[in-house]
Amino acid sequence: MELLQRVLFTLVGAASVCYFVIKVALGHWKRRGILHEKPKKPWGHLKGVGRKRHVAEVLQTLYDKYKGQAPFIGFFALLKPMLLILDLDSINYILLKDAKYFMDRGLYYNIQDDVLSQNQLQMDGIEWQHMHLKLKSLQWQEKLQNLLPALLKVQQTFENSLKDKIPKTVAAQNVTELVEGFNIDCISSLAFGLEGDSLRYRNTQFHHMCKSYTKSNFNIYKAYLAFWFPSLARLFQYHVYSPMATQYFQKLIAEKLTEREYQRTQSSHFDFLQLWCDSRKISQRNQMYKKLENQEIVGQAFSFILAGLESTTTTLSCCLYELALQPDIQHRARSEIRAVLAKHQSKLTEDALNDLVYLKQILNETLRKHSPYPFLLRLTTKEYELPNSIFMLQEGNHLIIPTSAIHHDAAFYARPDKFDPEHFHSKNVQQRPPCAFLPYGMGPRACMAQHYVQQQMLVCLVTLLQCYSFTPCAETIIPLTYDNSKVLRKPKKDIWLSMQKT
Ligand code: HEM
Repeated sequence: MELLQRVLFTLVGAASVCYFVIKVALGHWKRRGILHEKPKKPWGHLKGVGRKRHVAEVLQTLYDKYKGQAPFIGFFALLKPMLLILDLDSINYILLKDAKYFMDRGLYYNIQDDVLSQNQLQMDGIEWQHMHLKLKSLQWQEKLQNLLPALLKVQQTFENSLKDKIPKTVAAQNVTELVEGFNIDCISSLAFGLEGDSLRYRNTQFHHMCKSYTKSNFNIYKAYLAFWFPSLARLFQYHVYSPMATQYFQKLIAEKLTEREYQRTQSSHFDFLQLWCDSRKISQRNQMYKKLENQEIVGQAFSFILAGLESTTTTLSCCLYELALQPDIQHRARSEIRAVLAKHQSKLTEDALNDLVYLKQILNETLRKHSPYPFLLRLTTKEYELPNSIFMLQEGNHLIIPTSAIHHDAAFYARPDKFDPEHFHSKNVQQRPPCAFLPYGMGPRACMAQHYVQQQMLVCLVTLLQCYSFTPCAETIIPLTYDNSKVLRKPKKDIWLSMQKT
């Protein structure tokens, strides 16, 4: 009896302490007099997220309710207080004009114990700056046009395999798998120096590692705790990525670097790996260039998988889905592709890609409607007073910019729920503030690969739409639903369509 009483007292005591901690934590914005929606204990504003709702839906509801009332409102990711920025002028200051106050994203990384986390998406502070300077000195943005031949080599393999695998009509094709194969081939070839042909050989080790690089016991709650208490997580050597994947990518890069450094005098083709590799030779001759260490190259190459694989696969598969549902738009895109190829002697040159105006409108409309990255994150690194307001952002404040909600705002897009490439007709683009479309973010921490990735996706769409038409089939899920358990917004199930040779 006495034991039972003790257990009961302990339980009641523990529950009271938890209740008190939660109540104090969720009172954070109330105590500071910041406008906010009443949070639910203990979820904050994330009740149902992961199961019934995607985080993008929560942000959309709050944005629709509070925009115009204040430049930002208080938000709770479970117990973590954050600020949800609602006003486009403030967003412009945060991302661009006064970006020096918001250079961090505040994600967890651990360079010593988790090598793959040494990538520009996760890193912050001095580590991010150090790498940013090294990459900048390579002038790779200026050299982007030189990458096109390497990309077209992957495209040629893809096209040949398509002809063999899908000679005529396929009643139901998993297009998510199809475009994912192309994207993996681009990554393996341009970033890891490993040629691939995913349409023919899917079960390669590289393919497997691209799909399963997190630890097998990866737990979203542990990751959340690492986000809350990064220094503690570093102390306990918490790592996100599987040792097997880490070793695999390290070994692969080491082998390929040796191959490129010693077996080839001058590179015959130019790709990302060659660019990183050349940094070593150039840095010996010119102090301005900073040598990239092996581990740093591993982190750079891995960022193509981490930041680029699901985002490109989602964008391309959602794009084909929308085109299948709207044959008129698909027909117009195909006519444009054929006219542009005819004008450029069937060659996909830089100029030819630039001429694909309507296809780019379609890509942008896909990024607007399906926004794979539904929000941006920033961490305030110095106290900052928002212009035209009395609000002071404090050092350590985490900010969320709800890009997907902005992309669905009827004030900027005439028919936000409809897939309509006319939203990106030049005359409509001119009438919108630049911050109304942020699929790649903006400012010094914007997507590093923005221009390259657009080329990669255009090349894939040209290859597919030139030869095939896409229509819905019995397996096509209409309307499309999203996977609520992921932070990136991606369809819940793979997209299946019927493909007919044109
Ligand atoms: C459709 C494809 C893609 C989309 C929509 C996309 C979008 C984004 C967004 C929204 C961010 C955050 C920007 C910000 O915080 O302001 C980002 C960052 C980043 N992306 Fe992409 N991305 C795509 C593909 C790629 C690819 C293929 C790579 C390959 C390297 C890549 C590399 C990065 C890196 C390294 C960062 C972090 C940059 C930094 O903080 O310095 N992304 N991307």
